[in-house]
Amino acid sequence: RAEPLVLGIETSCDETGIGIVRGRTLLSNTIASSMDEHARYGGVVPEVAARAHLEALQPSIEAALAESGVALADVDAVAVTSGPGLAGALMVGVGAAKALAVSLEKPLYAVNHLVGHIAADILQAGAATSTADDDGALEYPTVALLVSGGHTSLLLVRDLTTDVELLGETMDDAAGEAFDKVARLLGLPYPGGPEIDRAAVDGDPKAIAFPRGLSRASDMAEHRYDFSFSGLKTAVARWVEQRQAAGEPVPVADVAASFREAVVDVLVTKALAACRDYDVPRLLLGGGVIANRRLRDTALERGAAAGVTVRIPPLSLCTDNGAMIAALASELIMSGREPSTLAFGADSTLPV
Ligand code: KG4
Ligand code: ZN
Repeated sequence: RAEPLVLGIETSCDETGIGIVRGRTLLSNTIASSMDEHARYGGVVPEVAARAHLEALQPSIEAALAESGVALADVDAVAVTSGPGLAGALMVGVGAAKALAVSLEKPLYAVNHLVGHIAADILQAGAATSTADDDGALEYPTVALLVSGGHTSLLLVRDLTTDVELLGETMDDAAGEAFDKVARLLGLPYPGGPEIDRAAVDGDPKAIAFPRGLSRASDMAEHRYDFSFSGLKTAVARWVEQRQAAGEPVPVADVAASFREAVVDVLVTKALAACRDYDVPRLLLGGGVIANRRLRDTALERGAAAGVTVRIPPLSLCTDNGAMIAALASELIMSGREPSTLAFGADSTLPV
């Protein structure tokens, strides 16, 4: 099959992402974020995100076309995230994608956001990996760990277009959300992930023994690949309160480093356990939390020690973006998948 020219639209959270790919080649990836508008609320406000998408979509599509030198009329297919994500935010993208596909008389592909994150790896050039012999091809099977402000999921990918299995996910807060909440109680601004990462540089990761969620032997039977960060968040809050009650200063760097270590340890331990259990020597990382230095380094080091090749696409393809959505649709088209009918809606809890 010829390589399709696909325009992808992503609006599941606070990023308006437009991506254009031809086959497996990335042509453009424009991202407009409404993060600044949410900062004063300390988290993404769905209504604000939806309105921002509505305003950003048209200019973003024009920017993506200009960047790639592609004429809208030449696009072979339109792709859009139909879930999971914020319902109102998703609806803006889905509505726009339908309108575009109908007016262009081109097929429309509704895709899953989490599977899209995995597809990002197909487009990667210059990814950081624990091995030198990386030719950019996504090999199967692979375990994928997706960590962002909205999701924390561990998946087994036997085939991107036909066989993606959810092994586990967070039972409460997403990893990024935990970073944001702990940053807040340490008096650091939103988004908290980068702030904690920075504060942790001068801290001792072993200073405070914070709990590792769902890691006890009794948890490992039923929740082997699941995550929980709310207990950790509470433990940090207690620790800080006790310090303050005693009139002692809070050692922000040590708290940040110890908290970060607890999150990273659980994420990497469970991901590598899945690799071992399923005898899969590859681990793909995705989602905005991958920006975390300690997470990247720990995954690369412990992966190498376990004989697992760890793949980390460039950050612009790890955070929410439209290129990964276009890439997934491109794979679906090349594998012969029929387009979606126009009857689909936005599904905030769409399963993989
Ligand atoms: O994928 P992403 O850009 O978008 C959404 O989830 O919407 O991820 C954003 C999340 C935020 O929770 C942010 O605090 C977190 O990723 N994050 C980080 C770091 N950079 C961003 N968490 C930990 N360490 C970082 N360096
Ligand atoms: Zn995402």
